[in-house]
Amino acid sequence: MNRRKFINTTAIATAALGIPSVLNQKSRRRIIPPSENLNVALIGCRNMGYGILEHHLSVAGVNCVALCDIDDSILSEKASEIEKKYSQKPKVYKDFRKMLEQKDIDAVIVGTPDHWHCLLTVYSLQAGKHVYVEKPMANTIEECNIMVRAANHYKKVVQVGQQQRSGFIFQKAMEIIKTGKIGKLRKVNGWANFNYGIGMPITADQPVPQGVDFDMWLGPAPKRTFNQARFHGNWRMFWDYGGGLNSDWGVHLLDIALWAKDIITPPEKVLVYGANTYYEPRMRETFDSMSVVYPKDDYVIHWDVTAGVQKGPYDMPYGLAFIGDDATIVMDRSKLIVYPEWDDEAKKARTGEYKYNEGKESHGDHVRNFIEAITQGRKQACPPETGRVAALHVHIPNIAARIGEAVLIWDDKNNRFANSEAANRMVRPAYREPWTLPAF
Ligand SMILES: NC(=O)c1ccc[n+]([C@@H]2O[C@H](COP(=O)([O-])OP(=O)(O)OC[C@H]3O[C@@H](n4cnc5c(N)ncnc54)[C@H](O)[C@@H]3O)[C@@H](O)[C@H]2O)c1
Repeated sequence: MNRRKFINTTAIATAALGIPSVLNQKSRRRIIPPSENLNVALIGCRNMGYGILEHHLSVAGVNCVALCDIDDSILSEKASEIEKKYSQKPKVYKDFRKMLEQKDIDAVIVGTPDHWHCLLTVYSLQAGKHVYVEKPMANTIEECNIMVRAANHYKKVVQVGQQQRSGFIFQKAMEIIKTGKIGKLRKVNGWANFNYGIGMPITADQPVPQGVDFDMWLGPAPKRTFNQARFHGNWRMFWDYGGGLNSDWGVHLLDIALWAKDIITPPEKVLVYGANTYYEPRMRETFDSMSVVYPKDDYVIHWDVTAGVQKGPYDMPYGLAFIGDDATIVMDRSKLIVYPEWDDEAKKARTGEYKYNEGKESHGDHVRNFIEAITQGRKQACPPETGRVAALHVHIPNIAARIGEAVLIWDDKNNRFANSEAANRMVRPAYREPWTLPAF
């Protein structure tokens, strides 16, 4: 019987005897030697953060010791779910600063909207915790820079939630491409077409729901009135909190397009079209249509985003096609197909016929990789440097589209755009008091 099964069985048995769950907690602590325990806490519990927490809890010896959310209803719902499913009783907090004073937390999962990622990562590192931070790593270029420097300074493990790096399909694709099986890679086409990117129907502002600390939700973002269409889940379509469909999916898919050639630097040049072309106005500021070209030294990446539709090339709403001289390899998260090139006859002899299906997401593998990085010193699959490069590949075109520049040139050494002062004004966010951009 493995440890987790043993714990669960013990918990069920003691529960049946009417022994309070707090005793279950104590006995569980005695069973697991402290050296093998990993105590995690979650900030931002509603959706993805909670999913990531559950992947942690499926690993033997991992405990949830704290939950933090600004919304009372989410906090109590998730706390009772943890107690029911895992027989654990995390402490609950509405203010993450109080939570970070809790000494027994080893690692923090950041599952809030993007505009909080930088502050929460840096504060967690300062408090001596490892961090699993969701993607996009941050909402601006400068916040990404700060997070890389802070992670290096505190020497803790920071894993960015670009879980495709831990996924079988993408790892297999990299192996096929890097061993030359599709010939010379010349072009990558990536796309994401999803309805949700158009935002919600237009609605008037509403009073702040009971139990919600909206000022803490806004955090460093500008003060404003409440609207559900900008709140839970819907914040993605507003620049103060996210980068739209472009950044939501772009960091995942562009990351793979870069991995194929092990590119570890931000784009030097982007060519950008961004507009709102959907037939009706909705609650959003971000663009529903974007086309971006990234010229690289010996290949080119095309990135295409259309919100308000769900169809795409190869009958996939999102995906990647890597075009080589000998074959095109097409993939999404659950499948990979190689289409051999042809001239007089198909070049199957060189490419083989590869086809893989794997109907599962890779969050669990990415979380296990994070845990092994902490407990066994393994290299994490998506360190902050990788998260930053992917994030800059979406933030730079978003900046271009917002200021109406068709071409932006990024000078990474000097952390500035070479051809636009308007773009330079968008490198750093203006934090609302009392929050300040960490000095790193
Ligand atoms: N890796 C993936 O595949 C994937 C998928 C979905 C979302 N995400 C990322 O996960 C993050 C969260 O997205 P979501 O869909 O779960 O958003 P969500 O709006 O559903 O949930 C965010 C939660 O954070 C809470 N929150 C906000 N500010 C807080 C604060 N200061 N302190 C404590 N709690 C706070 C909110 O109340 C809410 O419960 C985003 O960065 C998103 O891009 C990643």
